Amino acid sequence: MLALLASLSVLSAQLTAASAQGTSAALPVSLPLSAPSSAATLNPDLLSFSIEQDLWTEWAGTTSSPNTFFQNALGNLAQRTGQTPWIRIGADSEDHTNFNAAIQGSEDLFPAPTTTVPYPEASSIVVGDNFYSLASNLPKGTRVIWGVNFGQNNLTAAFLEARSIMNAFKSSAMREADVTLEFIEIGNEADLYSNNGFRNPSTWTIQEYVKEWTNFAENVSVAAGITSGSGPKFIGAAFAGSSHSTSSFSPQGAIANGLLTSAPGKLITAISQHHYSGSFCSGNGALLQDLMTKANIRSNVSSFSPDVVAVKAQGLDYVFGETNSFSCHGAPNVSNTAGAALWTLDYTLFSSQVGISRVHFHEGVGYKYNLIQPATLTRSILDGSPLSQPLTPHVQPQYYAALIAAEAIGTTGSSTATELTIDNDFVSGYAFFEGGMLKRAVLINSQAFLSTSTGPRTAVNVDLTFTGGSAPKTVQIKRLKINHADDASGLQWAGQTFETSDAKPSGQISTQTQSATSAIELSETEVVLLAFQ
Ligand SMILES: *[C@@H]1O[C@H](CO)[C@@H](O)[C@H](O)[C@H]1NC(C)=O
Ligand SMILES: *[C@@H]1O[C@H](CO)[C@@H](O)[C@H](O)[C@H]1NC(C)=O
Ligand SMILES: *[C@@H]1O[C@H](CO)[C@@H](O)[C@H](O)[C@H]1NC(C)=O
Ligand SMILES: *[C@@H]1O[C@H](CO)[C@@H](O)[C@H](O)[C@H]1NC(C)=O
Repeated sequence: MLALLASLSVLSAQLTAASAQGTSAALPVSLPLSAPSSAATLNPDLLSFSIEQDLWTEWAGTTSSPNTFFQNALGNLAQRTGQTPWIRIGADSEDHTNFNAAIQGSEDLFPAPTTTVPYPEASSIVVGDNFYSLASNLPKGTRVIWGVNFGQNNLTAAFLEARSIMNAFKSSAMREADVTLEFIEIGNEADLYSNNGFRNPSTWTIQEYVKEWTNFAENVSVAAGITSGSGPKFIGAAFAGSSHSTSSFSPQGAIANGLLTSAPGKLITAISQHHYSGSFCSGNGALLQDLMTKANIRSNVSSFSPDVVAVKAQGLDYVFGETNSFSCHGAPNVSNTAGAALWTLDYTLFSSQVGISRVHFHEGVGYKYNLIQPATLTRSILDGSPLSQPLTPHVQPQYYAALIAAEAIGTTGSSTATELTIDNDFVSGYAFFEGGMLKRAVLINSQAFLSTSTGPRTAVNVDLTFTGGSAPKTVQIKRLKINHADDASGLQWAGQTFETSDAKPSGQISTQTQSATSAIELSETEVVLLAFQ
């Protein structure tokens, strides 16, 4: 009895010691020194953006006064990959846009804000030529996808918009800015037109869609100068649903029903899919953990693998043309938090592994799930209540994921990545190769350490082993510092904050260098970027 009590107290002392430091279970991770043949080629602009066009002018600024905050936020990413992210402009308001040459910028009508949607999309937007010309404010080298109105079934609107887009991108100002139009998208989420009043639900089928799209595209291709030669092309689909059937709204359905066989259909060179992890208009810590969880990210993305395969079999590119965490422009206290940054990074990198070539994160002024807030806000993004002090332009936690993805991809324009097999439900990882040789790795611990978590913050000790040669000598470690998964600010990337008034980093870069075979501590809700030497 005494002996048992003594050994119990030894055990409890050991447990106390372990939990005071946080439990640091050993986790072996094996890294190949050369790229496996299955490694995915990474676009430098794998992480790109989609912008709700009702307030495009807020993102762009004016001809005489560009939005330098937005330019700088994009510039930080371009510095890290050598290529500025793509920008898709359109989305829900694309199908509520009319054209009037007399208008400077845009004129919008907005529904009243609500608690769940504090910054609703415009119910009506009218634009003039200058609206499209403002794209020349984007950083040098930006590639643009622009949407035209198909929802309202008014060919004149699509025609006038397409013609204005072509004129804007042919202008000398745009050529000097080196901003190019890559794609026109005709209609946003046309699969939902039967629910939102744009089409008659009893006749709106994939066959009818293909017929009407082709009719619009015949006209728009002429208006926008889309030909089989060089220059812009069509991006197809932009559906919201996740059907894979050949008889409904899906890439397979569009292909089976002849979308690609008409003359304008032959000008489609990419297919866009929209995706959100769910529709949650209120949030909590459990929902944040669900979003971050490794298995959920994999099942959300992998469910589109059949579509990627079907699209690539046609020789077309496949992109997530509009995506983010949850509908309602994000769930409050979930989509706007540090945990969502970990989700963003894992979701983006995992997408590359199934053949998705770009992931366009959707953004609108005041949306909860933005990486970048480009304009001054006067009401809360969480519940629409008036703010006591206006909130000037700033980056949100997810922006740090864009920085990390960009650094991991690097500047060669031809890096590849493979997911690492890690036997842990919360730790995921990727290896990055240049010229086929291991250069970097990213490790993500997506266990949510919340402000409400009781007990110590645990960690795993990652033991790296290397296959296919002798281990590198040293590893340089950069950490994403997060206090709590549900924090909406206060993150630091390798010692620097980007939460500044001009989106430029502040603070000294801080890294750690150690032997490549020493254990790397990875806490709950942490990311490390490893660079091998
Ligand atoms: C069709 O589009 C044009 C240009 O956007 C607009 O002026 C006109 O009012 C629209 N017609 C209808 C019926 O909405
Ligand atoms: C496209 O549609 C507009 C508006 O209906 C029309 O004026 C124009 O002639 C059409 N263009 C072509 C090439 O059919
Ligand atoms: C996608 O992820 C969410 C959590 O963010 C989860 O609730 C949902 O079941 C996942 N969907 C699929 C298809 O895996
Ligand atoms: C978000 O979190 C804050 C701080 O915990 C809380 O006061 C607020 O009610 C939450 N807002 C919503 C809309 O969930």
